[in-house]
Amino acid sequence: MRNRVTRRIRHTILGAMQRGRFITFEGGDGVGKSTQIQRLAQHLLKHGIDCVVTREPGGTPFAERVREFILAGQLPAHPPMAEALLFAAARYDHIAGLIRPTLEEGRWVLSDRFSDSTQAYQGAAGGANFSALMQLEKLTVGDCEPELTIVLDLEPMTGRARIAERGGGLEVEVDPFEGRDLAFQTRLRQAFLDIATEHSERCKVVEAGQSLDTVEAEVWQHVVVRFELEAG
Ligand code: TYD
Repeated sequence: MRNRVTRRIRHTILGAMQRGRFITFEGGDGVGKSTQIQRLAQHLLKHGIDCVVTREPGGTPFAERVREFILAGQLPAHPPMAEALLFAAARYDHIAGLIRPTLEEGRWVLSDRFSDSTQAYQGAAGGANFSALMQLEKLTVGDCEPELTIVLDLEPMTGRARIAERGGGLEVEVDPFEGRDLAFQTRLRQAFLDIATEHSERCKVVEAGQSLDTVEAEVWQHVVVRFELEAG
């Protein structure tokens, strides 16, 4: 009885609390998402907004295991749709285990990649069937769509150079996706730009070849405008 009352009170309090906001970062390899997502988290913290930074594939123990499996490389040849299903399995768990509960607690979620990556990598650049991917997205994401997506856009050659720099001139470990050829990276870039045009309300493109501080300021500006925060 007492438990039921406590649950009801908790439910009422959570219901009255404002749901958190969901922001995703997208773009090709080496565009600087992880740096910019951390900088945005710092801005939000300064504004008293509690946020959780997560990534895809990953974010929950199950999804991190799927990540290890996919990114380990040396997978036998497989259709792009099989790959999309693996990413979707990880995403389904990520939403159920981390994204949705965090938003319901009133905290914000910043995710380094989300479903646009499947559309771009496995779909537009990889050749998986578009309408099948749309059905898969509906099933996986449902109503848990991001409210703002920052697309970091960078010329693929520059992205490559940045990945090489990560190792300070040493041989760096490149995941099987980063290792794909320039033609793939070029299709990928166009795919993200097309997604941004199609979903122009949700997606904001930021030119990632600018200085880190300039990119940071532009990202922050988009967040301020979208969620009507005080700038500064
Ligand atoms: P990661 O090391 O996180 O790369 P990045 O820093 O560029 O995000 O590796 C994730 C890789 O997985 C990345 O190359 C993009 C790819 N990927 C897909 O192909 N489909 C997807 O749905 C997602 C989420 C990622």
